[in-house]
Parts: sequence; C-alpha cells; structure tokens
Amino acid sequence: MPTLLEPACFGAIELANRVVMAPMTRSRADTAGNATDLMAEYYGARASAGLIVTEGIAPSESGKGYCRTPVLDSPSRLAGWRAVTDAVHAGGGKIVAQAMHCGRVAHAANKAPGAGTVAPSAIRAAGLMYTDGDGMQPFDEPRALSASEIGVVVNEYRRFASLAMEAGFDGVELHGTSGYLPAQFLCTGTNRRSDGYGGSVEGRIRFPVEVLGAIVEEIDSGRTGLRICPGNPFNDLVDDRPEDVEETFRAFLAAIRPLGLAWLHVIRRHEANQGIYLDNLALARELHDGALIANDSYDGPEATKDVSEGVCDAVSFGRHFLATTDLPARLAGGRDPESFDPRTLYTPGPLGYTDLSRC
Ligand SMILES: Cc1cc2nc3c(=O)[nH]c(=O)nc-3n(C[C@H](O)[C@H](O)[C@H](O)COP(=O)(O)O)c2cc1C
Repeated sequence: MPTLLEPACFGAIELANRVVMAPMTRSRADTAGNATDLMAEYYGARASAGLIVTEGIAPSESGKGYCRTPVLDSPSRLAGWRAVTDAVHAGGGKIVAQAMHCGRVAHAANKAPGAGTVAPSAIRAAGLMYTDGDGMQPFDEPRALSASEIGVVVNEYRRFASLAMEAGFDGVELHGTSGYLPAQFLCTGTNRRSDGYGGSVEGRIRFPVEVLGAIVEEIDSGRTGLRICPGNPFNDLVDDRPEDVEETFRAFLAAIRPLGLAWLHVIRRHEANQGIYLDNLALARELHDGALIANDSYDGPEATKDVSEGVCDAVSFGRHFLATTDLPARLAGGRDPESFDPRTLYTPGPLGYTDLSRC
C-alpha cells in the first residue's frame, strides 16, 4: 500500500502526493464574482498539495449563494482564473475547480440583480445567511425549476466544465453535498416533485446523473470527480425516512459507475443520522472504481494510517491548510499545522488569507 506522501494518479491527473487541499469558500472574489489576484496568491502558496480543490464556484449567477463568492459562467471570467491556475502550476501543483450551485441556500442580496433563487421544490431552507448589506437574513424562498429549466441548469454545468478547461484547471469536481442543488434533488425532504426529476429514487438521482454526464462529455471522466457526504444534514437537508439516504446513494453511485469518474471525494461521518450509521467510505469503496479521497477531521497520523491501509487513496484537509501553506512538508516532518483565526474566514482582504502574520 502507498504512503500519504507518495505520488498518485487520479484518472488523467498526476498528483505529487496524496495530501489534498479540501474546497473552502473564503469570499475573496470581487463583488461581481471574478477571481482576484489575492486568490491567485493564496492558491499558489499551497501548490505543494498533491491536488487543490478550489472553493465552490457557481456555474451561473443564479447558482451563487454567498457574498463575494466566485462565478464561472463566461469567457470574461477566464483571465482571473488563468492567474490562479498559472500560480498553482508554477509551483508544481494541480488544481481542479469545484462546481457549486447553491440552489435554495442563497440570498438575493448576494447575487447579481434579477438572478433568481431556484430549487427542485419551492421549500425554503430553515436558517439564516450572511449578507454584506444587511447582516444575517433568512434564506430566499426558492422557485421550483420547470423540467425545461433543469435542462438549462445542466448545460450551465457543461459550460462551467468547458470554461474550467480553458482557464487551465486540471479537472472539475461536482459539489454534491452540504445541502446545495444536487443534494436538494437527492433528498426526499427537499425534492417533492412529481415529474421525472422527483418522486422515485430514479427521479431524484436524475439531475446529478445528468450533470455528471454533461461534465464527462465535455472534459472526459479522467478529469471529473464528485464530492458527497451521504447523511449530511447541513443546510436543513432532512430525508423523510432515515433509510432513504442509503437507498438513494446506492442507486446514485450505481447509476454513475459506468461513467468511470476519476475520483470520489467523500466526507466521512462520525454520527448516526436519524438513528442509522452509514460508513460513507466503505460505501464509496464498494460502488466506485476510481480514486477515493477521504475527508473530515483528519490529522497526519490518521491520514497516513488510512492511506497505507487502503481505506482511501488520498486524504483532503481543509482547516489545516488555512494558516499552513506547506502542509505536506509539515506532515512529513511530523510537525503540527498552524492555528487559524476563525474571524477572518470570510472577510474581504488579505488578513488571515494571504497575510498570516496575525493568526
Ligand atoms: C471556511 C470553510 C469553507 C468551506 N467551504 C466549502 C466549499 O466551498 N465546498 C465544499 O465542498 N466544502 C467546503 N468546506 C468543507 C471543507 O471542504 C471540509 O469538508 C471541512 O473543513 C472538514 O475538513 P477538515 O476537518 O480537514 O477541515 C468548507 C470548510 C471551511 C472550514
């Protein structure tokens, strides 16, 4: 079995080591959703990761949920992203773009005027979200997508994948968890549709299956990955029956297996969901043939153990990368990562982002 610091091959992407930087929204795009020079500096500084998964990037204005988050929906966005990918490649790293459509987890104040908030069904998520102008606000009441509009959204993801390649990314990861649009389709509590995109398990998995099909058609399976966390209740995602989760994800993973995705990025779970514990990593190993990236609350020794025992092929670290740019070297030397300042996670500007002097 390989070790954490050995190279790996995920489809068409060669990784120098198996320490992956997990996707983290940091709200340092400009207010129009363009990637900034600060972002290029931030990602470039972490190029020693075997692979970087970017923060969630919206495939359309409507798919944007949070303030100052980036969008990749037209050639006018390419220059900003090209600076990011160039900085990472100059440091010898690899970087994939995470496609994140927030669906109902959004507020109109955080997106361009007129960009609507959409979801499989018109059910508002419980909770509040931050806006720059008015502080914490309730989530928007979403509008249910019509079947033909769903086709439009699938094509927005297709366009995203094509633009990502033009911008120099090494691949695309579909964000399929944490209560965002694909997860809203999968979950029985948020998908109340009675057409071909809801109702049965086959209906609920159809949207993310079509999105992945479109991305693969555009950029090939060797550059496509998916992030999941079966049973994750984040952003008010609750299934009607606890057994819905395993049933849904078994059907979903079986349906996309023929696509041959290069990697599955799985957030493991430590707690039971509505009384049922599901081992997400074991489920992924059973139903996926490509590489497996494991995530959540790993430290160096546990990551080393899981990779060397074949539980996963790589481990992604989120918070440890916030204030530690050279995490693979730290782990190799058995040294602890730096602590980060939670107050600067989403604030504009360099403090706590590229300027780590006060962390
Ligand atoms: C500030 C912050 C922003 C995050 N943004 C995203 C995101 O945009 N997309 C995503 O899939 N996960 C996101 N996550 C979740 C992380 O990718 C990761 O799953 C989580 O931090 C647990 O890993 P860790 O224990 O190594 O930090 C975010 C986490 C943090 C701390």
